[in-house]
Amino acid sequence: MSVNDVLVIIPTYNERESLPPIVQRVGAATPDVYILVVDDNSPDGTGELADSVAESDDHVQVLHRTAKNGLGAAYLAGFRWGMARGFGVLVEMDADGSHRPEHLPAMLDALQDADAVIGSRWVPGGGVVNWPRHRRWLSQGGNRYIQAMLGLDVNDATAGYRAYRRGALEKMDLSTVASQGYCFQIDLTRRAAAAGLRIVEVPITFVEREQGDSKMSGMIVAEALWRVTQWGVSSRAGNIRFSGGR
Ligand code: GDD
Ligand code: MN
Repeated sequence: MSVNDVLVIIPTYNERESLPPIVQRVGAATPDVYILVVDDNSPDGTGELADSVAESDDHVQVLHRTAKNGLGAAYLAGFRWGMARGFGVLVEMDADGSHRPEHLPAMLDALQDADAVIGSRWVPGGGVVNWPRHRRWLSQGGNRYIQAMLGLDVNDATAGYRAYRRGALEKMDLSTVASQGYCFQIDLTRRAAAAGLRIVEVPITFVEREQGDSKMSGMIVAEALWRVTQWGVSSRAGNIRFSGGR
């Protein structure tokens, strides 16, 4: 694996202030990686700004989409774009600086012995800076619920800072992913585990954004709750049928 093979996918929706600094920091931390900005026609002009960044930096490209269709759809489009161009490693990173590019070398290093690396807040050495109590509660409580329903051997299954080997994504049957919001992350975690892939968590410090607004919403939480419950229930029903049939 060479860092020249690495594509860092950065989804954006109204991230004008955050985009230039994150591109600069990725370049400083990992000079050889490529960046793909996936913009959903941001009303604040992030897409045009990304085009002008790309014009002056040959390691940056932009994928323009027509409407805000959720984080899941944006990442699936970014993965397809990168895999079609032969990238060997696909990284997910938020635009707002919460996923510090300075952690990326350690994550890519861990990927040498893994199929997928999760930048994890909820392992020793990881954490969150400047989150209100309700977000901390939601993330930790959510992860406990995921653990109970899906039994995944992962402490931070909702984390959005990740590195996947291309071959891992190919084993995850992305064409059947229906998750639209942040539960996309949980969905890919469960698919990776089901495919028998080796998932490694690397501790990160997640720093809450200073510019712009979070796109987290009640709808996003509701979708995650609904889908996790459904996945949990149907896998249990499957187990009962299986043992009953023997
Ligand atoms: N293109 C596109 N389309 N980008 C989007 C969309 C969308 O519909 N929704 C969000 N984004 C982008 C944002 O612009 C940002 O770059 C990134 O996705 C994360 O969005 P935030 O709104 O900053 O998320 P957050 O900080 O509340 O949540 C973070 O933590 C969650 C888990 O606790 C993210 O890392 C989530 O991925 C993660 O699940
Ligand atoms: Mn954020």
